[in-house]
Amino acid sequence: MSINTSKRSWAEPYKMKMVELLKTTTRTNRLNAIRKAGYNTFLLPSEDVYIDLLTDSGTNAMSDRQWSQFMLGDEAYAGSKSYFKLESAIHEYYGYKYIVPTHQGRGAENILSKVMIRKGQFIPGNMYFTTTRVHQELAGGKFVDIIIDEANDPTNLHPFKGNVDIEKLDNLVKKHGADKVAYVSLASNVNMAGGQPFSMENLKALRKYTKIHNIPIIHDMTRVAENAYFIQKREKNYAKKSIREIVKEICSYTDGATMSAKKDALVNIGGFMATNDPHVFEEARNLVVVYEGLHTYGGLAGRDMEAMAVGIKESVDDRHQAARIGQVIYLGEKMESYGVPIVKPIGGHGVFVDAKAFLPHLTQDQFPAQALAAEIYVDSGVRTMERGVVSAGRKPNGENYYPDLELVRFTLPRRVYTQAHMDVVAESVAEVFQKRERIKGLKMVYEPKYLRFFQARFEKL
Ligand code: F0G
Repeated sequence: MSINTSKRSWAEPYKMKMVELLKTTTRTNRLNAIRKAGYNTFLLPSEDVYIDLLTDSGTNAMSDRQWSQFMLGDEAYAGSKSYFKLESAIHEYYGYKYIVPTHQGRGAENILSKVMIRKGQFIPGNMYFTTTRVHQELAGGKFVDIIIDEANDPTNLHPFKGNVDIEKLDNLVKKHGADKVAYVSLASNVNMAGGQPFSMENLKALRKYTKIHNIPIIHDMTRVAENAYFIQKREKNYAKKSIREIVKEICSYTDGATMSAKKDALVNIGGFMATNDPHVFEEARNLVVVYEGLHTYGGLAGRDMEAMAVGIKESVDDRHQAARIGQVIYLGEKMESYGVPIVKPIGGHGVFVDAKAFLPHLTQDQFPAQALAAEIYVDSGVRTMERGVVSAGRKPNGENYYPDLELVRFTLPRRVYTQAHMDVVAESVAEVFQKRERIKGLKMVYEPKYLRFFQARFEKL
């Protein structure tokens, strides 16, 4: 057989130097484990998991260069050398003026929300994220979804389903006045929509609009390099730009950011808040000492800041993102080949299975995505996560949010699993798909007050 040279395979731009052994379990073990966990994959001991696709957060494999920096961590309480390295990496790759390190993304969200939101203000954003919205609400704000409608349809092939609908924003501004808008909360590669990017064109239009109305844009840049990858692949005039250049351009159209460095930036723990506004910085620096730690470590060890500085650099490497997103696409296409309904286009950090289409016999009150995640775990020990009505939680007035999207997320940690693992995952989903009619719904028997999806417990109906 001759080789088709225009379709040569690609491979990861790294090799393995150390491995972690995985435990295999029996179906009976897993049935017991999920029952004990109240049908919530967050409550499973990780020892009972074979392939862990719960999240891409903090689960990445660090490189030898990142690990080597651990030895250089400066653990001084104040003025750590490692802080200045992190600060200079953020200046170089993202371009924000002032930074405040935090222990992870939600630490940054807490401080930023407290500084920037006045009671009764609105925070329009391109779809909610669980922790982001809760901090906005706790600060007295109200989140308003201004993502384009296409984002709520798993089958719609719009290339930039993370785009903001500027008309929706304009309606809000017209109704309440720009003064009632704290800022636009703009996430790159929108997590809850299935890892979907915004386009640079959309961001530029948003910048233009917000400049006129004097509304800041705060960028949730947790997955900004993944968003940049899609801009490079899909947007006119960006094919020849590097991810590094595109990332910097994205940041340049925004006024500040919160970052969970546990995703893009390839570390197990860490985050930061950034701003170009000296007054916001001043207040954030005051608050960080209350909630996180001194402003030169923000809850992190010096070594964590060292590893983050290197991870930021590695995250904007074109070959890294091509392999990272290439693996997600490989898994998604494999599931599709078995007829499994997934969110299209396939996103950046994981494959999102459409639980409404998978289990049409269940109503949303029977928690289809929660039930499906439990079923997949029992089949193969693959751990995934619900991103539907449980994750959406309740409004401040106590009513349930009912999101259009009811999804099971297969999130891929970066640089961790192989193509063979992806085959095993897809085959397990295919097998569960064949017996989908027998899958029963769940009822919630314990509901925590905040971010209920982490700790809620269920029983089978
Ligand atoms: N923003 C986005 C878009 C996120 O995905 C996350 C975390 C955060 C903020 C909060 O950051 O966890 O470091 O405090 N997402 C994880 C996930 C939990 O599994 O999607 P954090």
